Amino acid sequence: MNARCTYGVAPGALPLVGHALPLLRDPLAFLDALPGRGDLVQVRIGPVRAVVVCDPELTRRVLRDDETFDKGGPLYERIREVTGNGLASCPHSDHRGQRRLLQPAFHSGRMAAYAEVMSRQVRVTTGAWRDGGTVDAADEMLALSARIAVAAMFGAEADDARLAPLLDDFTTVVAGIPRRALVPPAADRLPTPGNRRYDRARSRLRGAIGRLIAGRADGAPDAGADQGDLLSLLLSAGRDGPDGRALTDDEIADQLVTFFAAGTETSGSALAWALHLLGGHPEVARRLRAEVDAVLGDAPAATLAHLPDLRLTAAVVNEALRLYPPAWLLTRTTTSDTRLGGHTLPAGTAVVYSAYLLHRRPDLFPDPERFDPDRWIAAPGAPAPPRTAFLPFGSGPRKCIGDVFALTEAALALAGVVADWDLRPAGGRRVRPAPRLVLSPHRLPMTTAARVRGG
Ligand code: HEM
Repeated sequence: MNARCTYGVAPGALPLVGHALPLLRDPLAFLDALPGRGDLVQVRIGPVRAVVVCDPELTRRVLRDDETFDKGGPLYERIREVTGNGLASCPHSDHRGQRRLLQPAFHSGRMAAYAEVMSRQVRVTTGAWRDGGTVDAADEMLALSARIAVAAMFGAEADDARLAPLLDDFTTVVAGIPRRALVPPAADRLPTPGNRRYDRARSRLRGAIGRLIAGRADGAPDAGADQGDLLSLLLSAGRDGPDGRALTDDEIADQLVTFFAAGTETSGSALAWALHLLGGHPEVARRLRAEVDAVLGDAPAATLAHLPDLRLTAAVVNEALRLYPPAWLLTRTTTSDTRLGGHTLPAGTAVVYSAYLLHRRPDLFPDPERFDPDRWIAAPGAPAPPRTAFLPFGSGPRKCIGDVFALTEAALALAGVVADWDLRPAGGRRVRPAPRLVLSPHRLPMTTAARVRGG
């Protein structure tokens, strides 16, 4: 885009606090209104000004140039308090080395073993459901993705008794991050119940991860041997690391917290939204069951080998990621004066990009509010959705390292659930998105009816 882009100011600013109130009250409605204001739109939170990028090409420019638009801005500053200098929050200067070190954990050769863990954990989750029962599908999918993440990271299957407090603390921290991003750092020191809860949860989370590292580092006789999980990779980094030294326990903890944080609620939320959308669209659910029954036959669970034939399943996942991208709003900071869309952004400008905002632009995705998985299954000659404006996993050098892992997990879990269970909305209340760090359904009660395949 060479022409000068439009530059606007977001509506509804109040003296002193700026746009903090509409952002806290209803951030999704706030975002929806921004593209009408310009390609770049200024928002103000207290004294801090940020620029929201509303145009897909400008967003890609920001994401491609990770040196000028580095990790930073109000959200990442708060994320760093939890994940330290891990892969997702480290600055550009540390990123290449870290990514090179961690990439082997996502090598395609490892996916078959991960897929086995995923299928097994799906069976554990659904095995606890009762025919005619009710579950909160959001909680169930969060616990499922947490168990999968723990197994992939630590090679250990987490039992529910150990997982529950970890997930509670994790949820508290995740809920605290965006709120804290909207208030001045001095407010953290106030002894409010919320601050105390957040601090306690954060230190317990670090403590639990620290104990897992210590247990593996000196416990087992084969400590440090490659057990095919992320922790093995990190513990062996002394031999293969970028500067030939072992990672410290703190550096390892940063990465493990990062991967747990980045890979758990995101995946759980994507799955929960997919189930919610299917619950509201019985005809798509019927077609999905027919696909899963035909592809799985009488196999006990969906496996990696089934994935290429589960086309509607993948399309449902994509459409859920389009409508409710879990990583719905992220920030960067400019490291030098730079030009974007014909406008100058001084060094230190906070830049916001939002997959949610782009995915709901009618010029990019016609009838954007409609749940239409078929838009991802291109009929011959029909226009395909613009992949360049579809950013659930970000783009450029900081693109999600776990994207294939996440898509595999989502397809296997969705197929696994649909094969043997019919989930319907329960409770009669409208399901509301809770725009925290991750865009998750607030509560998602669903009834669980066991089904016979082909029935
Ligand atoms: C549906 C599930 C997921 C979604 C929607 C998602 C989304 C994203 C997005 C948008 C980014 C880029 C952040 C930015 O631009 O600031 C990202 C980065 C990242 N994700 Fe994911 N993610 C998912 C699952 C996972 C999983 C399963 C893992 C690990 C097991 C993971 C690990 C990471 C890491 C480590 C980064 C930082 C990458 C880097 O900076 O090099 N994510 N993710």
